[in-house]
Amino acid sequence: MDTNTTHHTSPALRIGDHLPDFEARSTVGPVRLSDFRGRWLVLFSHPADFTPVCTTEFVELARNAGEFERRDCALMAISIDSLFSHFAWLRMIRDRFDIEVRFPIVEDPTMVIGRAFGMVGPQDHDSAAVRTTFFVDPDGVIRAMTSYPANVGRSIPEMLRTLDALQAVDRGEGLAPANWQQGGTLLKVPTTSLDDVFAAKDGTSWFLQENSK
Ligand code: BEZ
Repeated sequence: MDTNTTHHTSPALRIGDHLPDFEARSTVGPVRLSDFRGRWLVLFSHPADFTPVCTTEFVELARNAGEFERRDCALMAISIDSLFSHFAWLRMIRDRFDIEVRFPIVEDPTMVIGRAFGMVGPQDHDSAAVRTTFFVDPDGVIRAMTSYPANVGRSIPEMLRTLDALQAVDRGEGLAPANWQQGGTLLKVPTTSLDDVFAAKDGTSWFLQENSK
């Protein structure tokens, strides 16, 4: 990523876009996004260290690190706070909640990454407004994204469900309906043939049908 040209100018990323590469300092040493290719990745921004909602998110993510690992999914966080702020916050989390956050937290003090990724708006002077999450597939393509306000924490079960659904549809098992959970029934991909539409046993089964496998 050319940070000089993306600053203030890049449009927000969308589903289907490749995540631009970056290198930055993190709590586990230097990280390069492209080193995460080949695995799923949940890349998420948080407004600030040492804030109540963010702290609960990090505690829950760390407690569920094994669930992400089981889905071959890495976690990476990013905020404008300095590396030493991240360290102090993780130490506080360990001391109070008895859990070590071991996934990388990137420092982005100039917001150059946050702006380039659309996590921070071009006119924003800080990153306090939003919690953005990108679900990135092993090819580095954004497959889902969410945006929450600072005062509402993300649901870790919903993050895991989204990953499960993306992985199930990638295996060609069908489409994930509303409220689908791992092990639940998927839907058939609808036909694109008019002959199939007319041959269907009723007026809806040609487009809405469970996948019996
Ligand atoms: C929080 O994580 O609690 C928070 C972060 C930024 C603004 C307000 C609340």
